[in-house]
Formats: sequence, C-alpha cells, structure tokens
Amino acid sequence: MDSQIDWHAARAALEWQLEMGVTEAISDVPVNRFEQVAPPPMAGISPAVSAPAVPVQPSQSVDPVAEAETAARVAGDLAALKSAMAAFPHCDLQKGARNLVFCDGVPGSSVMIVGEAPGREEDQIGKPFVGRAGKLLDRMLAAIDLGRDHDSAQGVYITNVLPWRPPQNRDPKPTEMAMMLPFLKRHIELAQPKLLVVMGNIPCQALLGKRGITRLRGQWDEAVGLPVLPMFHPAYLLRTPAAKRETWADLLELRAHLDKKA
Ligand code: URA
Ligand code: URA
Repeated sequence: MDSQIDWHAARAALEWQLEMGVTEAISDVPVNRFEQVAPPPMAGISPAVSAPAVPVQPSQSVDPVAEAETAARVAGDLAALKSAMAAFPHCDLQKGARNLVFCDGVPGSSVMIVGEAPGREEDQIGKPFVGRAGKLLDRMLAAIDLGRDHDSAQGVYITNVLPWRPPQNRDPKPTEMAMMLPFLKRHIELAQPKLLVVMGNIPCQALLGKRGITRLRGQWDEAVGLPVLPMFHPAYLLRTPAAKRETWADLLELRAHLDKKA
C-alpha cells in the first residue's frame, strides 16, 4: 500500500468516528446486497440436506434480563455492582462507549437522582451530569441547598437508567432499558436513599412504567418502595427556559418534603 496515513492520524480518525457514534466497521467499498445472488448448491446435494434447520434449544438461548437479575442480586455493595455491570455482556451500547458511567455524589444521601443516559462529556469523563445539563442541575440543587459534593445530610447521589452513552444520544431502546433495569433497582437498594428524583421521560418509563413528564412532574409517585418525584430533565430546561418555572416549584416541593422529614 502506498497510502501514507500514519498511526497517529489513523488513530485520530478512528477516535473521531467513535465520537460520531460509529459502532460497526464496514468495508470502504459499498456492496449492493440486493444484487448478490445465492451461490449455487453443491452438485448432488440439495440445500435442504446440506443445511438442516438446527432447532434452537431453549437451554442455549440467553435471557439478558434474567442474567442481569442474577448478576445484580449477587452484588453485595456498590463496587461489586459496578463490576457486575462492566462484566455484563448483553448490552451492545457498551461496545460504542468509552466509559461506564456509574454514579457521582454521596452514597447514603437522602436524595437519589436518576437521569437518562450519559452524553458525550459524561462518556469521556465517566461521571453522570458533567456537561451543560449537569451544570444546570448543580445550580438547581444549590438553590435548595443540595449538592453532589455536600455531606450526606445535604448531599445527593446521582445515576442514570443506562450506564453507557447511546450513539448520537439517541433514546434508549426498550430492550436496553429492560436489561439494565435490574442493575438500576439494585443500585437504588445499595445506595439506600430515602427518595428518588427522576428526571425526564426515560426514568419515569423505567421506574414508574409511565410516560408524559409534563403531566407527571411535581406529583409524588412511588417505586421500589420509595417516594418518587418526577421533574423535567435539565437538558429540556436548556431548550425550553420557560419550563424552569415549573421546575422551581418542584424544587421547592422537594425542599419542603426533606424539611418535613428532617
Ligand atoms: N443527561 C442525563 O440524563 N444523564 C447524564 O448523565 C447527562 C445528561
Ligand atoms: N421530554 C423529556 O424526555 N424530558 C423532559 O423533561 C421534557 C420532555
């Protein structure tokens, strides 16, 4: 080959493609698979004989949700749960992600915040809510004297429904959410919050089985035996500043609930 692309340039090009959400290697010449014809059967052997249908044995088929439940159940602490998620082989998002984004903040805090999934900055750094939406979240929390770097009385603990960034920040698929839900539920058990704040439609779907954040926000609900307060997602507030008014009311409701229980 006479192409002069060096190792560093090739690596930079590859990283750029990963950044853009490319998850699959394909050849550099397009192949029109509609024009491809099946190879002729070998002389004297009918296709039915040469390729018998192999019945799928139920015992060989994998149930990712059941496997996730087992792996999550045996994790005895947060570190073990993170390892179990890293070792979980059935969620393809892991292949396109740089980091597993597990948590930030103070384990044992009364308030546990559940977001959607990591974005670009979160994927790069390995922590939830560190990009623009995360900065807004920090300001929202500070307004009611909460923060991820406070002590556990005023601290928050933060995670997401999915620990890996979906390509191009697309919405999580129902299958991805279903197989990661056992890990999220175990995460909540091990972090032992007194209440959950779920931000946006995706965690409402995962934990409450409901969508329609505009109706759900500000209304206490219940999941996994805990009070749950749905709120708008901070990324939505960045796009729709007028909705900050409702979010301010929800933050005051959260503060009032904490003060009542204190
Ligand atoms: N949005 C989320 O839902 N979670 C993050 O961690 C970052 C952005
Ligand atoms: N849609 C979402 O998913 N989240 C919001 O907070 C608002 C609209």
